[in-house]
Amino acid sequence: MQAMSETEADPALLPILIAPHKTLKTKARPVVDADMDRVRVLVPRMFAAMYKAPGIGLAAPQVDVALRLAVIDLQTNEVRKPFAMINPEILRVSEDWATREEGCLSLPNQYADVSRPAAVRVRYMDLDGKRHEVEAEGLLSACLQHEIDHLDGVLFVDHLSALKRNMLLRRLAKEQKQKALA
Ligand code: NI
Repeated sequence: MQAMSETEADPALLPILIAPHKTLKTKARPVVDADMDRVRVLVPRMFAAMYKAPGIGLAAPQVDVALRLAVIDLQTNEVRKPFAMINPEILRVSEDWATREEGCLSLPNQYADVSRPAAVRVRYMDLDGKRHEVEAEGLLSACLQHEIDHLDGVLFVDHLSALKRNMLLRRLAKEQKQKALA
């Protein structure tokens, strides 16, 4: 018998929630010391799900865990540079804004231009409890803001006009329905 192909569902792989889902609209709570054992198990599984998707960021609510936790790896030039952010906070945003196309693993195949502050300063804790501050612009800035939005129950489509948002959500629902029937 053939070995199981990579395309078959891996039971160990965390499923990523597709919008609409209650957890995607929920404000996640801060990670506390008592969560750390769970977080240490969860983070490698989140990276695995993110790489498999593939994506460059994944927030815990997207895997149905309402904790303030996200993983990011922009994989610039296909080089992996993963980091996990626990309780990330935006400390400062730039006055100038930037627009770039965004997508989201919870809204597969849907893309739109999103305007956000061009640069941000973010503070977060890593898995060892060490605090970090990162100053970001460009793709990393957008990605940080996108993932932190998830922790507040906000999706990138929430930054769009109601008309555009409803169009994308309707298209997503239609595609998901077709996929379920296929
Ligand atoms: Ni997303």
